[in-house]
Amino acid sequence: MLRTIYNGQLRLSNVGQNVELVGWVAKKRNLGSLLFIDLRDRTGIIQLLINSEQIVVPDVRNEYLLHVFGVVKQKAVANNLLATGEVEVEVSKLEVINKAETTPLIIANETDALEEVRLKYRYLDLRRPTMQDKLIKRAQIVRSTHQYLDQNGFIEIETPILTKSTPGGARDFLVASRLHPGSFYALPQSPQIYKQLLMISGLERYYQIAKCFRDEDLRADRQPDFTQIDLETSFLNQDEILTLTEGLLHKIFLETVNYDLPLPLPRLTYEQALHTYGSDKPDLRYGLKIVNIKDIFENNQNTFFVDNTHIIAIKVANFAEQATRKVLDNYNLTAKKFKLASYAMLKYSSGELVGSLVKLFSAQEILALKTKLDLTEHDVVFIAASPLEDAAYFGLGALRTQVAKDLNLIDDQIYSLLWVTDFPLFETSDEGRLVAAHHPFTRPHDEDLALLKTNPAQVRAQAYDIVINGYEAGGGSLRIYDRDLQNQIFTLLGMSEEAIRFKFGFFVDAFNYGTPPHGGIALGLDRMTMILTGTDNIRDVIAFPKNLAGVSPMSEEPTTVDQQQLIDLHLKIVE
Ligand code: AMO
Repeated sequence: MLRTIYNGQLRLSNVGQNVELVGWVAKKRNLGSLLFIDLRDRTGIIQLLINSEQIVVPDVRNEYLLHVFGVVKQKAVANNLLATGEVEVEVSKLEVINKAETTPLIIANETDALEEVRLKYRYLDLRRPTMQDKLIKRAQIVRSTHQYLDQNGFIEIETPILTKSTPGGARDFLVASRLHPGSFYALPQSPQIYKQLLMISGLERYYQIAKCFRDEDLRADRQPDFTQIDLETSFLNQDEILTLTEGLLHKIFLETVNYDLPLPLPRLTYEQALHTYGSDKPDLRYGLKIVNIKDIFENNQNTFFVDNTHIIAIKVANFAEQATRKVLDNYNLTAKKFKLASYAMLKYSSGELVGSLVKLFSAQEILALKTKLDLTEHDVVFIAASPLEDAAYFGLGALRTQVAKDLNLIDDQIYSLLWVTDFPLFETSDEGRLVAAHHPFTRPHDEDLALLKTNPAQVRAQAYDIVINGYEAGGGSLRIYDRDLQNQIFTLLGMSEEAIRFKFGFFVDAFNYGTPPHGGIALGLDRMTMILTGTDNIRDVIAFPKNLAGVSPMSEEPTTVDQQQLIDLHLKIVE
């Protein structure tokens, strides 16, 4: 052992002790014959005091790795910025274990390095204490998860990484088979089918910290390979699964950030969330609720009111002065992105409603609007109108989020957690086809089963998302457990009988052997770590992530491979 104690552990109680330490040079200052070094290891920084008239001091530079012997002394003036700031170590012997070149980025919590540079030299980036703290919190989340699920009778089971390609939400990553020319494995987008099969096997409670792979467009909260806390249970109803998951979240929040989550968590149906916040993952840390104002304009014959089935508004208090042209141009971009064609902003100043839309209002309508929105001086009103429910609500919801950020309305000392339930079972694709909103194994509401034949778009799913601070942090559902219903859903999704057999034959066959009612959830470990470490960049909580182009700037994958490897895999690159 090269050390008797970790640097970050040294306190007044250690004064007088002889210690042996290792660490990297974080900082160095010369004061005549005295040399001060900040020595960093994983636990923190300790100041070393070296008298070059008393001991031999080799050449020492930043990030050199040192091995030192010395005695712990109380400092005359404490450094409040360091946990070890009341003491220092007076060095009697100093050896250099290894030298370091000048690093391409500053190894400190604050760094001005570009993210590409940080990712290229990730091993140095991860020397920064703030980055280590994130990985340590991530490990704590995993530890709390293992403990909780173990205590609750869950069995940790691994499922394959080389799996069968099945149609899912995202594109599959494929792995060519050498032994079976022209055939491919797919990397799992999630262990969904396996965990359901484990329920059919009678394992009753499964979990796994599962690696998942999805070839989709990357974003600040998305990686191509990411990790889920994945679980599945038999014989529990939705309430029981949500309560069990809340217990897990409570333990994670308490043990990771010492936050005592008030339970039970609030619940909104998808419809309530959409109509109140314009989002299926609303952030409840601020208000700005949506108000339906369609009724006010019932008698207005202008096409704006007649053509738009959905006319809704949010009021932003005290925004009139800040709502400049430039701010609004930004909002226009957001409205466009959400296909919200008709949207307008009105200001309320000097007791008057001002804005281009106002000329279409009658005096009575203006009065009704003032009353319904309870308008006061300097308020701003955003009005969204559309014949399409999604465009109106999601569009205004996006503006709501942007306003909250612009006005700093978000209290980052608290966490907003809620369940969103009763999602629609299907969505309509851009080509007008029905696609599964969650995945094709999700159980419809029993009372909506008849609608499958008449109006499938109206069918609600027994599906739920856990939403934290406006992020979808996890999602799950109760599953279909009878073969006929499963086949009916596949058919509604446009799969022929042959396609069902080819893709899912093994799965539907398993339903013939006494399938229990079951359901589960997957929490995004990376997203949850992001939230609990206060970053909005998923790459900050993954040791070796990919950049937004799906590339690792450090090891540079994806790369080309040898011609022989391609030949072995029976592959040919088509230019
Ligand atoms: P879903 O697809 O909703 O459900 O995924 C569950 C959670 O995983 C996280 N997540 C991601 N995190 C980072 N990068 C990504 N590309 C990414 N994609 C998803 C999110 C999301 O809420 N098998 C079902 C779960 C179930 O039904 O039990 C599933 O995978 O936080």
